Amino acid sequence: MNRMVVLGTGSALPAKVLSNADLEKMVDTSDEWITTRTGIKNRRIAVQGEETSKLATLAAGRALEMAKLSPDEIDMIIVGTITPDMGMPSCACLVQKELGATRAFALDINAACSGFVFCLDVADKYIKADPDMKILVVGAETLSSRVNWEDRNTCVLFGDGAGACLVTGTTEHRGMLASKLFSDGSLYKLLYMDNVPSMNKNLASQDNDGSYIKMAGRDVFKYAVRSMDMAIMNVLDQVQVSVDDIALFIPHQANIRILKSLGERLGIASEKVYINLDKYGNTSAASIPIALDEANREGRINAGDLVLLCAFGGGFTWGATLFRW
Ligand SMILES: CC(C)(COP(=O)(O)OP(=O)(O)OC[C@H]1O[C@@H](n2cnc3c(N)ncnc32)[C@H](O)[C@@H]1OP(=O)(O)O)[C@@H](O)C(=O)NCCC(=O)NCCS
Repeated sequence: MNRMVVLGTGSALPAKVLSNADLEKMVDTSDEWITTRTGIKNRRIAVQGEETSKLATLAAGRALEMAKLSPDEIDMIIVGTITPDMGMPSCACLVQKELGATRAFALDINAACSGFVFCLDVADKYIKADPDMKILVVGAETLSSRVNWEDRNTCVLFGDGAGACLVTGTTEHRGMLASKLFSDGSLYKLLYMDNVPSMNKNLASQDNDGSYIKMAGRDVFKYAVRSMDMAIMNVLDQVQVSVDDIALFIPHQANIRILKSLGERLGIASEKVYINLDKYGNTSAASIPIALDEANREGRINAGDLVLLCAFGGGFTWGATLFRW
């Protein structure tokens, strides 16, 4: 049986750091409130020249380097994003151009913070059809351009960045073992952004066109915990393994309290949960591939390990993916 394996991972983050202390000067908030309610300390903010496609291209280049592949060997590029540079072309087409991946076809997927697991699921279907394909899967966002910096309820939560992985097929007993995706559009008003984004706008030059992220935080919190629990149980059941068999959980990095509640419900040991949200905040579709790349480069993932990814985001969308590394 052919399975999808990861040949390389990469990530890219803007240089500019926005700390809780910086936010204290912008809105009525405190480091103490943000830290205890979210676990976030810093986030990265893109400036001109660090548009979503640029961050995505940097992350993709690093994944290619690790995979020892050149851009012209890529067959397909899928980018999960809700902050493409433009309404058209897709972010994936701009990445294709920037990389010079002349043989690849390219498309975006909008599944908000679940974008990366949705992209992986689609890539897996192509790999099953043609195991020789080399597919670049990216999650990239510049949500700072869509945050209302006068709204303390949302502006403390989000950050910018990109992560990528290069996948192909194998007949070895490893790779992607299970995946399950869900959506519930009836709840979209609990977390939404009403306009199609345009070119990235940094803090200094942001316009006030009203297309900000709007969120009912408490409701989102509740659904996020329940939904990720459901998705994780589904993929574990598919391959008949238990929570204890998982070596590393790499969840969407939205909020430390969501992850603690999820861990308690499922009985996941906290040391098995990869956390970097303190450094980057919620980077939406980029959060899982950034964390995956950091965990990979830190040697937190060994050959044969079961690695579980899970996400929840606007739509609502949610899902989980299980790999044997
Ligand atoms: C957003 C979130 C941190 C708010 O925490 P909460 O405990 O639910 O807090 P509430 O929204 O009930 O607000 C409590 C109080 O804190 C205030 N508050 C909100 N943001 C604040 C901030 N940054 N600093 C200080 N006070 C703040 C509220 O105005 C409210 O004040 P009030 O009681 O005087 O009205 C929490 O709901 C959450 O994490 N939700 C999920 C968000 C998320 O992860 N979304 C993305 C999913 S992909």
